[in-house]
Amino acid sequence: MLNVIILAAGKGTRMHSDIPKVLHALAGKPMLQHVMDTALQLDASNFCVVYGHGGEAVPQAMGQYQANFVLQEPQLGTGHAVQQAAPKLQDGTMSLVLYGDVPLIQPATLKKLLQHRDHLNLLTLHMDNPTGYGRIIRDAQQNVTSIVEEKDASAEQKSVREVNTGILSAPTHLLKKWLANLKNNNAQGEYYLTDIVAMAVSEGIKVSTSQPDHGWEVMGVNSKVQLAELERIWQGEQALRIMQQGVTLADPARIDIRGKLVCGRDVEIDVGCIFDGEVHLGNRVKVGAYSVIKSSKIEAGTHIAPFSHIESSEVGSDNRIGPFSRLRPGAKLHAEVHIGNFVEVKNSEIAAGSKANHLSYVGDSSVGSKVNIGAGTITANYDGVNKHRTEIGDGASIGSNCVLVAPVTIGKEATIGAGSVITVQAPAGELTVARNKPVTIPGWKRPVKQHK
Ligand code: UD1
Ligand code: CA
Repeated sequence: MLNVIILAAGKGTRMHSDIPKVLHALAGKPMLQHVMDTALQLDASNFCVVYGHGGEAVPQAMGQYQANFVLQEPQLGTGHAVQQAAPKLQDGTMSLVLYGDVPLIQPATLKKLLQHRDHLNLLTLHMDNPTGYGRIIRDAQQNVTSIVEEKDASAEQKSVREVNTGILSAPTHLLKKWLANLKNNNAQGEYYLTDIVAMAVSEGIKVSTSQPDHGWEVMGVNSKVQLAELERIWQGEQALRIMQQGVTLADPARIDIRGKLVCGRDVEIDVGCIFDGEVHLGNRVKVGAYSVIKSSKIEAGTHIAPFSHIESSEVGSDNRIGPFSRLRPGAKLHAEVHIGNFVEVKNSEIAAGSKANHLSYVGDSSVGSKVNIGAGTITANYDGVNKHRTEIGDGASIGSNCVLVAPVTIGKEATIGAGSVITVQAPAGELTVARNKPVTIPGWKRPVKQHK
């Protein structure tokens, strides 16, 4: 049981954007959602998001989460922000304060911070250059006595390198009492959350400190430059994770994982690929350079050649896809299917061993096994109002540059002559040709230029 308070009211002036800072995306997802998704991995029963700028944009962007959204207006400091959430906090448990612009905090670090349920727990960090941060002040016995903000610190206090990350947890009933006693008589005229430390000390409440597993977990974002820095760090971590599981990356600095990538054994990924949403790559899958794969499953032994785009599709085993293939939502390919350059497949099932190697559109279709779809063939699925299906039987062979005008059925083992426009059922096992006979006009002459 735990209350989680996420501070997200800051304006983010240095982002130079009309979008609230915490809604800017890292790895394809708003920063605030990263924090929320991490909080959901703790044993928390109550979530409060304190928001300020951007009207209702923050609550709207967080619609899929069960949380209290508390408006802080005006913004009078971190202590004032947590005060706004206080009425929503459940007593009898701890409260944890997180920040919407510190997106990469990890569950393991927070679990350490939450170990002492009756202490005030501070997440601190030792920094070579602590400028700008609140300093952790300790007595001769190394007990924490207070946090002093940079602007209020003496020269001696400024030399302290242990800083406050801002993330803390405390028993909720004590936190509420301390918040009610905050004053703003400091250099910035703000209600400092950090002042609760001296209050705890004066009441004999133990103040514990712990450190994050990685420094990047507590890095905040105030500008697009910092957002890009954190994005690179996070991508580097993701690349490391999959390499440690056995994936071969042509260059770990040139892969972007914006979601969850699950890989089997002996997977190889070339440079410049983007993985979005949840993507599964089976054993021995190879992904060629500059491919974009979103919310899809690719089964074992399939090779994807460069510049392929795959979205919400299922690709079976031992397929050959690309280069320059486009699989749109609802493409379901069975084993050993070949999809070549400039072929688009949408909402279609293609059975084992079938091929569409060049310049085709296969939409709203059911294609049997061992079908060959010739270059330039189009399923004309749209009459301007409705979408219609095309059915192609096992073993059919469609010549080059055909138009299959749906709804239409091509029988098993049927052959369609090149250049045909098929508007009626083509019977199984037969050759159907639907094109004008060649006509030769005897004695026809090309026009010649007239010279004056
Ligand atoms: C705060 C800490 C400081 C710590 C630093 C770490 C205080 C008084 N100081 O500094 O010890 O080293 O964080 O980065 O807590 N926010 C609100 N409403 C407000 C003010 C802030 O929601 O009224 C949010 C901001 O959006 C931001 C976070 O709180 O996410 C921290 O605010 P910021 O002003 O960046 O921190 P400092 O006060 O400089
Ligand atoms: Ca401030």
